[in-house]
Amino acid sequence: MAYPWLLFVLFFATKLGTCGGDVGDFGPCLQFFYSRSRRAPWFSAYVYSIPSGKRPGASWKYEPQLAYPEANGNMELLPQGLVDLNVVESQAVDQDYTNSTFSRGHLNPSLHHQVHEDRSSTFTLTNAVPQKAGSNDGPWETLEQTVNKTLAAYCIGKAYIVTGIIPYQNQEHWIKNKRVAVPEYLWSAYCCPQFNNSLPQYLRSAFPTYAAIGRNDINSTEEIVPINKAAKKQFFGYDVRQMSLETLEMYLKQRFNSVVNVFYDSCSEQPDVAT
Ligand SMILES: *[C@@H]1O[C@H](CO)[C@@H](O)[C@H](O)[C@H]1NC(C)=O
Ligand SMILES: *[C@@H]1O[C@H](CO)[C@@H](O)[C@H](O)[C@H]1NC(C)=O
Ligand SMILES: *[C@@H]1O[C@H](CO)[C@@H](O)[C@H](O)[C@H]1NC(C)=O
Ligand SMILES: *[C@@H]1O[C@H](CO)[C@@H](O)[C@H](O)[C@H]1NC(C)=O
Repeated sequence: MAYPWLLFVLFFATKLGTCGGDVGDFGPCLQFFYSRSRRAPWFSAYVYSIPSGKRPGASWKYEPQLAYPEANGNMELLPQGLVDLNVVESQAVDQDYTNSTFSRGHLNPSLHHQVHEDRSSTFTLTNAVPQKAGSNDGPWETLEQTVNKTLAAYCIGKAYIVTGIIPYQNQEHWIKNKRVAVPEYLWSAYCCPQFNNSLPQYLRSAFPTYAAIGRNDINSTEEIVPINKAAKKQFFGYDVRQMSLETLEMYLKQRFNSVVNVFYDSCSEQPDVAT
């Protein structure tokens, strides 16, 4: 498998800015790189802002313009009953996740946004991948919270975050008979070019870049992310391994068969983005 375009999109992930129109105009300030055949995103790139207020209620929405090119870009609430067939064809719907043993894992978490409107617009299934609850409610959630606290405390300028998936190497895994592709791993990286230089010792390697890969399959081998044998039962096998950006890019290169640069010039100086 080769994904030569991935290099291109990732390289520009931080150049795209936060509110520009892109692969569909996916609501305010969010960027998804969506695969129609997988009915799931490859990755999501966004600019972090310190969250405020409570997590919005989880009312999941869909993207009408994926189903109807002429539709406007505003997300709509998924109806309770029957869903339009064009919508079902173009994206995942609630029924795909029901009884699937997977939860809806946000790539771009509502936790990383300040404005309520931005936060609730992360609740779309085009921003979600099938994620085991042991990851979503365990080590992956801890990672999102750690990133939140670290950036809120020590990032002075903008922080760019890219979160994506790593597909299975040989045989794709799906939910509901090839409806939605299941990722083997999730990964996330941030780039904060301007940060507070008086970092505590334990955070010295967390700036200007930071990266991690999380397991989404208890049966994956331990070469990329080892299993903590002492983990609580419900989180066992869903570890997240923190690593350097270079190490993450090495794993992405291996799996995607293409050189991957997640941030422009390795985050040395990000080009200005329009907001
Ligand atoms: C989920 O499983 C329950 C119990 O087996 C069943 O009643 C329900 O119809 C299933 N829902 C879907 C969407 O498959
Ligand atoms: C995110 O970080 C902010 C700033 O430190 C903090 O107030 C908030 O409680 C954090 N949210 C979570 C869910 O950890
Ligand atoms: C940098 O961090 C130190 C120690 O936590 C703090 O006293 C200082 O106010 C911070 N400076 C800025 C510009 O945030
Ligand atoms: C892991 O492997 C076991 C034994 O082969 C199997 O029963 C189980 O369904 C697998 N779990 C997943 C999530 O694939």
